[in-house]
Amino acid sequence: MTPKTGSGKQSGSVRVAVIHGPNLNLLGERETHIYGTATLEEIDERLQALAKELGIELHITQSNHEGEIIEAVQACRGWADAVLINPAGLTHYSISLRDAVAAVEVPTIEVHLSNPDAREEFRRRSVTAEVVAGRIAGFGVNSYLLALRAAHALVLEKKG
Ligand code: DQA
Repeated sequence: MTPKTGSGKQSGSVRVAVIHGPNLNLLGERETHIYGTATLEEIDERLQALAKELGIELHITQSNHEGEIIEAVQACRGWADAVLINPAGLTHYSISLRDAVAAVEVPTIEVHLSNPDAREEFRRRSVTAEVVAGRIAGFGVNSYLLALRAAHALVLEKKG
């Protein structure tokens, strides 16, 4: 997995890792009636702009491989103050990803562009739901932006 975006460490800043799961590299072309027309690159740019405004240091990755997503979660240990993850299809069945999120003990927010609860039956089950701080779904690109604001508030609250 190649980090897509990263910036140098700024002392005192809040550090947030963004992890995009399988098939999200196809956003902009993939089922646009469900996921919208924004590409992943555009979403990342919107996240970077908001991060700059809020004084957040972002590290963004995407992978189509379950093991790489798990390694990205593990890599947050000791670096990230919070994690935003769209586990995509892994949401619905990956116990290994659930275990990784539980193991790292970094506050994690689950993000979805669509509202999985309003879709097929199999999408109503999230195995990660139990181990995340919260979930934001159904607002398209804004799900990510709202999640970044929530992560920021969560970290500041925790730091006191
Ligand atoms: C998704 C919803 C999942 O059910 C689906 O498998 C995805 C994208 C979303 O962002 O809406 O790949 O996580």
